[in-house]
Amino acid sequence: MGSSLNAELLQRDLGALVHSLHNEAAHRAGNMWVRGEGCEIIDADGHRYIDAMSGLWNVTLGHGRRELADAASAQMMTLPYCSGYAGNANPQALALGERLASLCYPSINRFFLTSGGGESTDSTIKIARYFWKAQGKPGKYKTVSVMGGYHGVTLAAMCATGMPAYWPAFEPRMPGFSHIPNHDRYRYVVPAGADPETAAADELERAILAEGPDSVALFLAEPVMGGGSYVPPAGYFPRIREICNRYDVLFAADEVITGFGRTGRMFGLEHAGVEPDLVQFAKGITSGYVPLGGVGVSDRVAAAFDRAGDTWMHCYTYSGHPVSCAVALATLDVLEREQLVERAAHLGERMHAGLRRLLGAHPHVGDIRGLGLMATLELVENRATKRPFDAARKVGPQVLAALRERGVITRGRGDQVYLGPPFVIGEDMLDRMVGRVGEAVMSVLGPA
Ligand SMILES: Cc1ncc(COP(=O)(O)O)c(C=O)c1O
Repeated sequence: MGSSLNAELLQRDLGALVHSLHNEAAHRAGNMWVRGEGCEIIDADGHRYIDAMSGLWNVTLGHGRRELADAASAQMMTLPYCSGYAGNANPQALALGERLASLCYPSINRFFLTSGGGESTDSTIKIARYFWKAQGKPGKYKTVSVMGGYHGVTLAAMCATGMPAYWPAFEPRMPGFSHIPNHDRYRYVVPAGADPETAAADELERAILAEGPDSVALFLAEPVMGGGSYVPPAGYFPRIREICNRYDVLFAADEVITGFGRTGRMFGLEHAGVEPDLVQFAKGITSGYVPLGGVGVSDRVAAAFDRAGDTWMHCYTYSGHPVSCAVALATLDVLEREQLVERAAHLGERMHAGLRRLLGAHPHVGDIRGLGLMATLELVENRATKRPFDAARKVGPQVLAALRERGVITRGRGDQVYLGPPFVIGEDMLDRMVGRVGEAVMSVLGPA
C-alpha cells in the first residue's frame, strides 16, 4: 500500500480501535472504506470493489438507498428514542411487529427486538429456558446446535456457535451447550444403512438421548449455514421438527443471514416446509443501515410471557428502537415493491450456474454449494479424495487476495470462498463478479 491514504489511515486506526476479529497484520493490509454506491464500495485511495458479500451478508438493498436514509431522518426528527421497557411503546416498533407477523411463519406472531444477531441468540436461549420454567420443567435448560454453525459471539452465543476457533481464548465455555455433526452433504459420512435424507438429523435424537430429554430446552440451527453455505438434504428439517416434537424440545431457526430473502424465499426454513418455534433474525431486516435484530416466538411460546404477575427479566436499552424500526419498515417496503426476494432466487440461479460453468470441472474445486444468493466454493488439494490443502499454503486467503486485486471484496474461511451479493446487483455486474472468481481461482490454482 506504500504511502497511500488507506495505509496512513489504517495505521492511525490501529492506535485508536480494537476491531472485530482483531488481527494486526490483516488490518494493516486492509481498506479504509469511505463510500458505498449501489453494489460497490470505495476505499480511501479511490479503489472501487464489488461488494460481493453485501458487507457481512446484510446490505441486501445495496448502498445509498435514499428511502432508508429518509426513513431514519424523519424518525430522528420525530422521536429519536424512547424506552421499550414494559409500559412504553412506539408506533414504529408496533408496525414492525405487525408487519413481521404477516410475513413470518403462520404460528409466529410476536417479536422481541434486539440490536443484532448475537443478542438475538442470547434472547432465544433465554426465551427457551424461561418457557420451560413456565411449563413447570425447570430442568430443561440445555441448547443443542450444529458444528459449523455460527450464532454470534456473546458468551452464550459463542457457546452455541459450532466453530471451535472461537472458543479457546475465552474458555471455559458455559455448561449446557452441545453440538451435533454438520449435515455437510460434501463431507458428512452417512452411517451404513441410514437414509441420507435424514441421517444427519437423527444425530439430534442421539444427542437429546445422551443429554437426557428432560434437560434439553432448545435446538438452534441455521436453515442454510452462513459459514460454508451448507444446505441440508430436503428431509433434514422435517425430521428435526419430528424429533423436537417427540422430545419436547423447542426448535429455533437462526435466520440472521437467511431471513428477508437471501435464499430466494422470505425465510430460509420455508424451503423445508416446516415451522420453527422461534425464529431469530438481524442483518437484512434493515439492509445493514442501522442495527436491528429480533426473535419471533410461536403462539404457544408467547403465552408464557403473559402470565399474570410475572415479569420477564430480560431487556435491552435499544429493544424496539424507533429509528431502527422505521428503517426496517422502509427496507421491507423496498423488498416488496421491487420484488427482491424473487430477484434473489433468479439471480441466485444465475450465480450458481455461472460458478458451475466456470469452475465445476476444476481439479481443485471440490464443491460449489449454497442456495439463492448464498454460495461457497470449497477448494481442495485432491478432488477425488476431497483431501484439503495443507493449511500453511493459505490457498483460500490467496484466492481472496487475487479477487481483491480484481476489484471484488468478499470473505471466506480456510479454503472456502463465500459469495453473497446484494439483491439489487445487475446481471452484468453479477456475471463480472463470477468471471473474476473464476480468474482468481485459476490464477492461484491453474486452469480448469
Ligand atoms: C447466522 C448468524 N447468527 C448470528 C450472527 C451474529 O450476529 P451479530 O454479529 O449481529 O451479533 C451472525 C453473524 O454473522 C450470523 O450469521
